[in-house]
Amino acid sequence: MARKRNSSKGGGNGKVDITLFEKRIRRGLQQGRDLLAEIVTRTAPKPGARIDARVADATEIRTNGYIEKLLEHKEYPKYVLLNPGPVQTTAQVKNALVQHDICHRDSDFSDILRSVEEKLLNVMGAEGNHRAFVITGSGTSGMECAISSAIPEGKKLVVVSNGAFGDRIGEIAELHRIPVVDVRFSWAHPVRVAEVERALADPDVFAVAMVHHETSIGLLNPIRDLGRLAAKYDKLFIVDCVSSLGGERFSLELDQIDIAVSSANKCLHAVSGLAVVAVHQRVWDRIRDVRPRVYYLDLKRYMRYAVDLEQTPFTPAVNTLFALDRALGELLAEGVEERIKRYESLNALIRRGLAGLGVEPFTETGCESHTISSFFTPESIAFDDLYRELKNRGFIIYNAKEHLKDRVFQVANMGALTRGMIYDFLFHFEQVLKQHQRSVAKQSRAHLAVI
Ligand SMILES: Cc1ncc(COP(=O)(O)O)c(C=O)c1O
Repeated sequence: MARKRNSSKGGGNGKVDITLFEKRIRRGLQQGRDLLAEIVTRTAPKPGARIDARVADATEIRTNGYIEKLLEHKEYPKYVLLNPGPVQTTAQVKNALVQHDICHRDSDFSDILRSVEEKLLNVMGAEGNHRAFVITGSGTSGMECAISSAIPEGKKLVVVSNGAFGDRIGEIAELHRIPVVDVRFSWAHPVRVAEVERALADPDVFAVAMVHHETSIGLLNPIRDLGRLAAKYDKLFIVDCVSSLGGERFSLELDQIDIAVSSANKCLHAVSGLAVVAVHQRVWDRIRDVRPRVYYLDLKRYMRYAVDLEQTPFTPAVNTLFALDRALGELLAEGVEERIKRYESLNALIRRGLAGLGVEPFTETGCESHTISSFFTPESIAFDDLYRELKNRGFIIYNAKEHLKDRVFQVANMGALTRGMIYDFLFHFEQVLKQHQRSVAKQSRAHLAVI
């Protein structure tokens, strides 16, 4: 409806509805809006089109700055995470979490899923024989998916264990009533391959499972030797590489792995919430008749959805996939071997640094990993005090599990860490130790004065 025009010249009764000034402002605003609309139409991507990669790069560099700034105002303080995941992520990975919302049944989601799978297989040393699936859940969900989906009724699983996560594989299998042949070593001892071989000779054994890097003690297990044995006895070989993938040498093909399970939030440097399961093509035929023991973690269902639709069977944690894609991109850009060497060098720095402070390593077997180090808690300080005082100084360390709790502590070098961070950590560790030695000395002087 046309609005009745009022005089802007004033006069008469002196009343005006719109002054000249107001008119100018309105016109200016309209021009501004028109200009904005034009810019938006000219620069906005066509529906479905991708923004030019270079523009995206430039935007990303700017946004990383925003992310850093944004984090300065967050409620929780910043720590250097020296725990074995979730790990320190880069600004770019955090940035990747913030995306326009997409539907997991849309082709955009399939694009990201495909990109993640390709990168994962590359990092995992696949040579065209494996497929990789992403499960929304932690590393344990991936292990439960592998174990519950891969062992036929009445067949046995050999579980090789020398720590908490090896033991967990056995617990998962037993929960699903899968008969387990335990080949168990004490927590601080390397796996003896000959003992595993004896167990594999049993014709009722269908598969053998073990952890590559037993995080709870920081030992690397001989997956290549076991891969060879599994192939010799024609058993499926299932490997938990949750805390080794990206940080230790690992190859689906060279290690002859049938099913490998990892997680996003350790040496891959993405955020927590995703497990990864890689499966060799020869597995499908062998597990065709296995009835699913778990609805959500039915591996064959993940395969069907991936092949037929390039989707996941259930609503995934969509944004964490963007972060994983970004983190894998960073890993491949750095180079897997270069990343591993960086881990080795940070790990050596931690071990040398703490040895220099008189802190005793928990194991000296020659099988120690390069992603975590375990030490006896110094006698002068209780673990809780050590933890709290390091936390006050900005560093998070880790308590060992079960019978080693408090007696042994762990320092991981997983995630986006720098040498500078490790030097800082060692400096503060020394300060905390000195402080405690002084207070222990003071206490004993006071004690002596009393008696
Ligand atoms: C070797 C290994 N396996 C399995 C897990 C379990 O992973 P999550 O805590 O993500 O379930 C961990 C966790 O630290 C691990 O180190």
